[in-house]
Amino acid sequence: MESLNLHLRGADATRTLGERIAALLSPGDFVGLSGDLGAGKTTLVRSICEALGVPRERIASPTFAIVHPYEGGRLPVWHADLYRLGDEDELFETGFFELRESGGVLLVEWIERIPAAAPEEWLHVELRHVDEESREARIRGHGARGEALVRALRRPA
Ligand SMILES: Nc1ncnc2c1ncn2[C@@H]1O[C@H](COP(=O)(O)OP(=O)(O)OP(=O)(O)O)[C@@H](O)[C@H]1O
Ligand SMILES: [Mg+2]
Repeated sequence: MESLNLHLRGADATRTLGERIAALLSPGDFVGLSGDLGAGKTTLVRSICEALGVPRERIASPTFAIVHPYEGGRLPVWHADLYRLGDEDELFETGFFELRESGGVLLVEWIERIPAAAPEEWLHVELRHVDEESREARIRGHGARGEALVRALRRPA
């Protein structure tokens, strides 16, 4: 499996990573995010969405809706947050699995809660606290597409 660890000093470094990921995304790509409370998941999702051209005022927290669509950007985006979901059956009922075929980009927070939510080919970004001022991103590529994304991120920006 291709993997890459990055040290992110300050929230701007998280945002820069988001911009770099956004520049690589194609229809159907799946990015799963995990990490503790306050690790920077939402910061990363918002920066990906903004870099894809989603108008800033549309970017919300999908906590209640589970899945939230964003239009107006370069690609359609679905932002999901699995934090409050119990299991795969509950996720199935939301229609989530049909979205994987929709040709949009999926950005899924708390992917570790329901690992079966992820497809065979995807990018996993795990954010960890280092200290108050910095985080570590552990990026792993699953399947051919996920591995290609990691290799592209490894190239100097
Ligand atoms: N690389 C970084 N270094 C230092 N602070 C960061 C970094 N990335 C993000 N932050 C800051 O960490 C705080 C929490 O970020 P954010 O809300 O994105 O986390 P989260 O993972 O979504 O949290 P939650 O699980 O509570 O929703 C914010 O103040 C953000 O600016
Ligand atoms: Mg959050």
